[in-house]
Amino acid sequence: MSMNWKDINWQTLEELRAPFLEGNKTKDYWRSVSDLEHYDLTFAQRIGWKWNAVLAELHERGFELEPASHLVDWGCGSGIASRLFVESFGSESISKISLFDRSKLAQTFAMNRLNEVCQLPVRLLEAGQIPDSGYVLLLSHVLGELNAVDLAELNSWIEKSQTVIWVEPGTPALSAKIVAQRERWRETFNVVAPCRHQMQCGMLSGKNANNWCHFFAPPPPEVFSDSNWTKFGKTMKIDLRSLPTSFLVLDKVAKSTDDERKRVIGRPQLFNGYATFIGCNVDGVREAKLLKRDGKEQYRELKDVKFTRFIDC
Ligand SMILES: C[S@@+](CC[C@H](N)C(=O)[O-])C[C@H]1O[C@@H](n2cnc3c(N)ncnc32)[C@H](O)[C@@H]1O
Repeated sequence: MSMNWKDINWQTLEELRAPFLEGNKTKDYWRSVSDLEHYDLTFAQRIGWKWNAVLAELHERGFELEPASHLVDWGCGSGIASRLFVESFGSESISKISLFDRSKLAQTFAMNRLNEVCQLPVRLLEAGQIPDSGYVLLLSHVLGELNAVDLAELNSWIEKSQTVIWVEPGTPALSAKIVAQRERWRETFNVVAPCRHQMQCGMLSGKNANNWCHFFAPPPPEVFSDSNWTKFGKTMKIDLRSLPTSFLVLDKVAKSTDDERKRVIGRPQLFNGYATFIGCNVDGVREAKLLKRDGKEQYRELKDVKFTRFIDC
């Protein structure tokens, strides 16, 4: 059974957040099942809102799973990524789920939570126990915790996968790491998202030193109406209305189609009569301008928080 807001110990949440604020994430920080319950009810839900945006984009793009896909959640924590993935794609198209984390406590917690929401076989993997190739690899909020050795290990899991779906916070540092991984893998895999092309990432051009690849996932309505979330946001000093996200979807078969339209990166800026935004397409990443008179509908749309947005200008 999952935990309720009334059982929250706010001190536990503060302690869970401390290693992240102090940048000290190199050792296992899960101390108890209670830690994972607290995380799963709060921080993991916020991560889940980002996953929902990425999964919605994949559906929008017509991305399909191979029948009987094997799901591998690496650095699974409480297992939010695999739970939402199963919910979104349905258990019919998945044959089994494997979980890996340096914390046994986390792996077991994630398995128990998965068992509550689906009937699929779930197994726990050991370090180095890379499954047979062809799996869907889910990676969520792990990149900031990996040193060079860990990343090399993760890359050997990526190499044997068929699909990688990777969601990280949309900070400049993590976005740069995601872009580096895109460069590392773009000749082995097709890049499905966020890009609409397979070329070198336009962010790598010197002109984009102050830009980074990130998007804003829309928060769910309860963030604005539920007093528990209000208290969580205030106590943890997190603005829950803002969900900056970097992500990457790679696949050995599925492909993104080249698109002349520009994908809007970050937040557009709206002025009287025009808007500017950082736009990305096969020609690179650069600032673009949309005159209101040339696209009233598009100009209006730029006001909303939207994760996936293409503009024709
Ligand atoms: C911030 S949590 C994210 C958990 C989960 N993926 C999510 O999105 O909620 C990072 C997780 O990565 C795990 N982790 C960190 N370094 C790892 C490594 N080198 N190998 C395996 N797991 C690792 C941690 O134990 C933790 O569970």
